[in-house]
Amino acid sequence: MSFTPSPSSSSSTRRSNRSDVAAVILAAGQGTRMKSDLAKVLHPVGGKPMVMRAVDTAHALNVGRTVVVVGRDGDAVRALLGDGAESVEQGELLGTGHAVLQAESALRDQVEWVVVFYADMPLLRAETIARVLDAAQANPGPMAMLTLRVPDPRGFGRVVRGPDGGVLAIVEERECTPDQLAIRELNPGVYAYRAAWLWDNLKAVRPKSKGEYYLTDLVEIAAAQGHGVPGIEADDAEELIGVNTRVHLAEAETALRRRTNAHWMLEGVTIQDPATTYIGESVNLAQDVTILPNTHLEGQTSIGPHSILGPNTTVRASRIGAHCLINNSVIEESTVEDHVKIGPYCHLRPKAHLCEGAHLGNFAEVKNSRLGKKTRMHHFSYVGDAEVGDDVNIGAGTITVNYDGKNKHKTTIGDHAFIGSDSLLIAPVTVQHDARTAAGAVVTKDVPTGKIAIGVPARMRDIRRPEPDDKG
Ligand code: UD1
Ligand code: CA
Repeated sequence: MSFTPSPSSSSSTRRSNRSDVAAVILAAGQGTRMKSDLAKVLHPVGGKPMVMRAVDTAHALNVGRTVVVVGRDGDAVRALLGDGAESVEQGELLGTGHAVLQAESALRDQVEWVVVFYADMPLLRAETIARVLDAAQANPGPMAMLTLRVPDPRGFGRVVRGPDGGVLAIVEERECTPDQLAIRELNPGVYAYRAAWLWDNLKAVRPKSKGEYYLTDLVEIAAAQGHGVPGIEADDAEELIGVNTRVHLAEAETALRRRTNAHWMLEGVTIQDPATTYIGESVNLAQDVTILPNTHLEGQTSIGPHSILGPNTTVRASRIGAHCLINNSVIEESTVEDHVKIGPYCHLRPKAHLCEGAHLGNFAEVKNSRLGKKTRMHHFSYVGDAEVGDDVNIGAGTITVNYDGKNKHKTTIGDHAFIGSDSLLIAPVTVQHDARTAAGAVVTKDVPTGKIAIGVPARMRDIRRPEPDDKG
């Protein structure tokens, strides 16, 4: 089971069936302030493009239809959406009101309610949208919106309330009077509308400066019609970070990381320094895992109980068992069983499999190989394309010479074999169980059980007396 820090983890929102609601996600904008070759909504936060986070949020809300308004880099956005959401094209980017209008032909007479939010709010939760929708549905008027009170208002549109507390207007910062600029209640950009009213009244919105049609003008239109517009106050400012620049992008990244790390700490994981701990959303951690500073866990990764990771460790798309110690190492697409020690400075490349109790020390690299139980590889060695048995000692500087310039070849090492320091195993080659290689041997032929390979190229001798294990 994997944890998803997106709002889909909420069972309360998932249970409600909202088949008469459509979500319209605005993702067409230029994102000029990002100064990027990439559309803003394609920039990732926590490894996932913002527009996909928005789609996840709509799915968590369990709405009947999800429509993404695309514009800049529309083909790329559509390719990313796949079957996950519908899309409509906003040809000319004439503002947020104009963007929503593009969804009319897809949605008119199809749903009762429309929620609208912006794709540049990667931390927005489905629960928060649900609160706004509930308020709209409980109110006789045509819409409801979210608001946010902050001590130091900056950037967002200001919320102007009337004497009865209802919202009268939203004024964009650049159009505020000095009095309005001081208003501390902001528009984060989450709205719920009666669908029929929305489509009828969007057409009444008039273009503002630079010919833009503001979605926010619908509030004034509703108020002028005598309707109360409930403004639902949000309680978590961090959730409503809107990404307009790369400074905001970094803020969102940090906030998401805080949210994810807090989740895992509450699940019983010790995180010594959350500020330098990066846990992807497909990662699963058991209770009593400990994560030391500067550690990155990515992709489909799971870590068993009582394992200690870090410092300075990356684990990508791998399964790590219980009671493992992984220190200053990089592990990719590999499997590590229980009670394995790795590091410092090891690299497991794809398809490494370390069986229970194996031990990798300084500067060991393993690729596409299985190392048996309690096998030891303590110092600067490379094992690639190999099958290594149980209780094998791989001496310092051992190399499986697996590549002849054209093809990769396999090395097989049997149980209890002893590979002397600086052995070169020229694959394809087999060292049978209980066989040995001497220090510096260049092994070009199979080594039978009971023999030791000595020299360059190695010749076979009988093992005369059992030598004490080199635990080096
Ligand atoms: C908007 C709100 C502002 C609010 C703020 C919160 C309006 C007029 N203003 O301003 O009140 O405080 O968000 O973050 O709505 N987009 C389109 N098509 C367009 C223009 C924009 O799809 O023609 C999309 C963008 O891709 C983006 C979203 O709409 O995802 C918001 O656009 P943006 O330019 O960031 O609006 P703000 O200036 O932040
Ligand atoms: Ca914005």
